[in-house]
Amino acid sequence: MGCVRGYLCPLVCYGDSGGLEDLLMAQHQECEYDVVVIGAGGAGLRAAIEAATKGVSVGLICKSLLGKAHTVMAEGGVAAALANVDDRDNWKVHFADTMRGGHYLNAWRMAELHAKEAPERVRELEAWGALMDRTPDGRINQRNFGGHAYPRLAHVGDRTGLEMIRTLQDHGIHEGIDVHMEVTVSKLLMDGSRCAGALAYDRELGRFKVFKAKAVVMATGGIGRAFLVTSNSWEYTGDGHALAYHAGAELVDMEFVQFHPTGMVWPPSVRGILVTEGVRGEGGILKNSEGRRFMFDDVPALYKGSTADTPEEGWRYVVGDREARRPPELLTRDHVARKIVKEVQAGRGSPHGGAFLDIAWIQEHIKDSEGHIKKKLPSMYHQFKELAGIDITKEPMEVGPTTHYVMGGIRVEPDSQMSTTVPGLFAAGECAAGLHGANRLGGNSLSDLLVFGKRAGEYAADFAGKNTSAHIQDEQIDLAVREALAPLERDPGADVGPYRLQYELQQLMQDKAGIAREEDGLGEALNELQQLKTRAQAMGVGGSREYNPGWHTTLDLHSLLTVSEAVVMAAQARKESRGAHSRPDYLDKDPDWGTVNLVLQKGHDGEMELRKEVIPEIPEDLQNIIKEQG
Ligand code: FUM
Repeated sequence: MGCVRGYLCPLVCYGDSGGLEDLLMAQHQECEYDVVVIGAGGAGLRAAIEAATKGVSVGLICKSLLGKAHTVMAEGGVAAALANVDDRDNWKVHFADTMRGGHYLNAWRMAELHAKEAPERVRELEAWGALMDRTPDGRINQRNFGGHAYPRLAHVGDRTGLEMIRTLQDHGIHEGIDVHMEVTVSKLLMDGSRCAGALAYDRELGRFKVFKAKAVVMATGGIGRAFLVTSNSWEYTGDGHALAYHAGAELVDMEFVQFHPTGMVWPPSVRGILVTEGVRGEGGILKNSEGRRFMFDDVPALYKGSTADTPEEGWRYVVGDREARRPPELLTRDHVARKIVKEVQAGRGSPHGGAFLDIAWIQEHIKDSEGHIKKKLPSMYHQFKELAGIDITKEPMEVGPTTHYVMGGIRVEPDSQMSTTVPGLFAAGECAAGLHGANRLGGNSLSDLLVFGKRAGEYAADFAGKNTSAHIQDEQIDLAVREALAPLERDPGADVGPYRLQYELQQLMQDKAGIAREEDGLGEALNELQQLKTRAQAMGVGGSREYNPGWHTTLDLHSLLTVSEAVVMAAQARKESRGAHSRPDYLDKDPDWGTVNLVLQKGHDGEMELRKEVIPEIPEDLQNIIKEQG
């Protein structure tokens, strides 16, 4: 059949195409692969590489340009027990740290696999060309990060995620992967309960693409754009979480959203941009407006008996029975973020509502501290110089919490990464849940995406090998196309438009489901989300399918509203404070909640349903490791 627009081949037309409008709506390009990977950050790239090396055909879909991924925002390092800087480190300590950091809500099998396999994944990355910083004797260098007992973060200055993406990209393009850039998935396509592909549109001209696949790997990253202050860029609208949920997948741990303690707070145009934990890993200290190092206030028992008489005189402390270079600034992120908020609320914040982060003070202890800071933190140096007019080698930075990561996500089988409820759908990286429990340790995201990206790719290829092609009915595609085009068909009307609506959503989530959430606010948030949902469903946008970001934003809202509802419902249900979930109305941890995950799934009536599930008991050998590590 001919094409009315001239961008024909390989277009397929189907269905009842009576008039021109119908014809335009009905067109799509068809792409068929054994494995389709949605999302091209670290997890997606690693999954695609693994699947391709298994000899299956792979299509990789990126919402924006290849290489532009939140992975690059994990700046300070990749956590792996290489034991290059402290030979007491090993997978058992890493496992125990990850479980402790996650307040034992982690999927323990994932924590075990992650700790065991991370070193091999990092070495493999090096063999593929990643250039890591070195120790004086030439091994991969490792730095301190919050919650890790020993210096464990292999790094490339403060550009670790960037180097990882560069390496994976370079390696991936030689594996024969088809890359579809600036393409957004609007719906997963099913063959019964099995995932069989996805409908997507190209962002430039709004043309539809139908991806048919024997297995689909979701690797879309996080949900940061549901909040006003975030380190996430525009792509992170919870697409993978929402697509999987609407296809029948379970979401778990959605109440746990990580607020990284240090984002920029000034100037307003850059508020939320990440200030790597690597600054604190290199000795940066936090001070309030009185010049006091407040992280020593109410330090956990861990730091009682610190060997440092005055905190400024060094950073060696006794932690339990181990000596470690771990100042209280490197307590876990949930703790540090709350301490900064407390200082601000007590009127001791910095001029723009944060705290001071000072790395310049190391000049008292290190020769050529300026050179050292520029070498170890080159991006931070430039970021503050260019964006805030601050020279971090001489002056403190102003920092405050920023929405950075979601621990919750698609519930998967630990070994294979396949969704617990949707055969053929796999998930890896931030959009998958389990590894991090109630709070993620810095650097564990990069090792997560390497370990579980590889596993997802491997098991997806295996699934594709064992299963025949799925069948997708034309009516399903037609419906998905019509749903995606619906905002263009509706009258823009008098409502505020998609951008403003997204802003209202972000404000709501920031205020009522942010770093501290309470019963009343969460109840209000649920009601207001319903209203926003009704307005979003009625929202029309002007213009055509071509170059129309307003239309894209309207479609993103669907995902944002789904994940926001999941966060709020779970946050309301968990009546305790644990890890990243802080409830001032339930200040303490409640032991009854200590073994419970909250699972969300779409009910038969289309409403979100929530249930509690008790975590399977940790096997004895792993329990012993946790006990041994203290
Ligand atoms: O602070 C950072 O460099 C971020 C690391 C991470 O999120 O893992």
